[in-house]
Amino acid sequence: MNDTDRRKPSISRPLHFRPARPDDGAALWRLVGATGALELNSAYFYLLFAADFGDTCLVAEHDGRMVGAVVGYHPPRQTDTAFVWQIGVLPEHRGQGLGLKLLQEWSALPANRGCRWVTATVADDNTASQALFRRFARDCGTDCAVSPLFTADMFPCPHPAEPLYRIGPLDGSAP
Ligand SMILES: CC(C)(COP(=O)(O)OP(=O)(O)OC[C@H]1O[C@@H](n2cnc3c(N)ncnc32)[C@H](O)[C@@H]1OP(=O)(O)O)[C@@H](O)C(=O)NCCC(=O)NCCS
Repeated sequence: MNDTDRRKPSISRPLHFRPARPDDGAALWRLVGATGALELNSAYFYLLFAADFGDTCLVAEHDGRMVGAVVGYHPPRQTDTAFVWQIGVLPEHRGQGLGLKLLQEWSALPANRGCRWVTATVADDNTASQALFRRFARDCGTDCAVSPLFTADMFPCPHPAEPLYRIGPLDGSAP
């Protein structure tokens, strides 16, 4: 796929989007592992997240199989903000607009609809994710501000810096 193709979202297959359910933990763990790029946390972590934060998580299914997901939550001290902790699309579904659609559907979830800001940290070497969040901001007609958050020296192991991407203000209506 060349860059021109990638710029034309053309989802032709039927996809189903829904908030995560308490029993989605295992499938989320498998999906994150299958992306080959996201840091895989413990299975317990995803079970707990699906059970307690499912309203702020979104899954995309194709033929009953999870092919993409957003794992998110509301930072407790920022009630107007929805944070994307992880977003992933299976390799065979990438480059077709699904990542962008996931963010749009996720920000339109009942639990997120009132949020004025979407935040995420994006590793300095993750160009796909950087492009995704900037495109989401553009489509929302708003800004994407980048500022330092987790610098490389804060990690207990070799790790690229994870600056904060802060998108908004959003008017509360999905694009
Ligand atoms: C990041 C990710 C979710 C993007 O999903 P996707 O479905 O391929 O993205 P889309 O097709 O919706 O593209 C959205 C934007 O990102 C750009 N993009 C996607 N993949 C890209 C790549 N490999 N390099 C550069 N830009 C890329 C697209 O061109 C588009 O921007 P544009 O409209 O300005 O051209 C996917 O690559 C992925 O799952 N990566 C592994 C997990 C990860 O890194 N997650 C993010 C960290 S939390």
